[in-house]
Amino acid sequence: MNVKELFNLTGKVILVSGGAGNYGKCIAEGLAEAGATVIIASRNLENVTAVADKFKSAGLDVHGLQLDQGSHESVMTIKREIMERFGKLNGFVNNAVARTMKGYMAPIEQFAASMEVNATGMVDILREMGDLIANNEDGGSIINISSMMGMFGPDYSNYDGTDMGRDLPPDYFFHNAGLINLTRYMAKHLAGKNIRVNCISPGGLFNNQPERFLQNYTNKVPLRRMANSDDIKGLVVLLSSQAGAYINGENILMDGGLNA
Ligand SMILES: NC(=O)c1ccc[n+]([C@@H]2O[C@H](COP(=O)([O-])OP(=O)(O)OC[C@H]3O[C@@H](n4cnc5c(N)ncnc54)[C@H](O)[C@@H]3O)[C@@H](O)[C@H]2O)c1
Repeated sequence: MNVKELFNLTGKVILVSGGAGNYGKCIAEGLAEAGATVIIASRNLENVTAVADKFKSAGLDVHGLQLDQGSHESVMTIKREIMERFGKLNGFVNNAVARTMKGYMAPIEQFAASMEVNATGMVDILREMGDLIANNEDGGSIINISSMMGMFGPDYSNYDGTDMGRDLPPDYFFHNAGLINLTRYMAKHLAGKNIRVNCISPGGLFNNQPERFLQNYTNKVPLRRMANSDDIKGLVVLLSSQAGAYINGENILMDGGLNA
């Protein structure tokens, strides 16, 4: 197959959870630019619809649906809606994250609330979307978005000289690490169904962070910058398309060389 054909996502329906968020918007845009019909989903329907409409006015085929990943009922509703409105699902980018825990000694209920969405809800939606993808004759792709913070401990020196809090919450490091090995588990568990399950562990996305933080952080990155809004597009298109047809069970660290 011609290499442009290998990367082409025309005719594919792909769900991006948390698709109205920072990385979610970049992921949705990249997939839609490669030709996919993209469904972005998060809790606030009004917000997710507004983001989808903005993409539509730029000529991209992006739709918004409501999803509360902490609710099994909501997961089953979106599963039904996808089949009713789009007739199939070829890919799922598991990108939503709830940031409910505010620090190491925060009330333990905040950890439990995080797990409800980031662990229990995540397994729930992965199983249900995997079930939809398994219905396709030609299978499809699941991409988990973890973080370099699922692979390494925090680097508090990034906050030197800033008034940003140094009290990073432990749940984020815990569930992102778990997601990386869940990727390997699912790749093997879904054997024979033609579903590839991979993971991307990004570094920090530029989001107008304070100047001193940017200096501290980017001085350690060989590329001397944070990730920009284009950096993740190529990887999600690769892993969603025929171009990545033999990549399975992999975790790709995308951090500009920070942790090399
Ligand atoms: N932003 C970064 O610098 C960075 C770095 C590394 C990894 N990541 C990873 O990228 C992914 C996205 O992070 P982000 O920074 O774009 O986050 P974000 O906070 O900008 O977006 C998260 C999205 O998830 C949605 N969400 C939260 N709770 C939900 C729920 N219960 N049900 C459905 N949707 C829910 C939010 O509405 C939002 O759309 C995460 O997996 C995160 O670990 C981000």
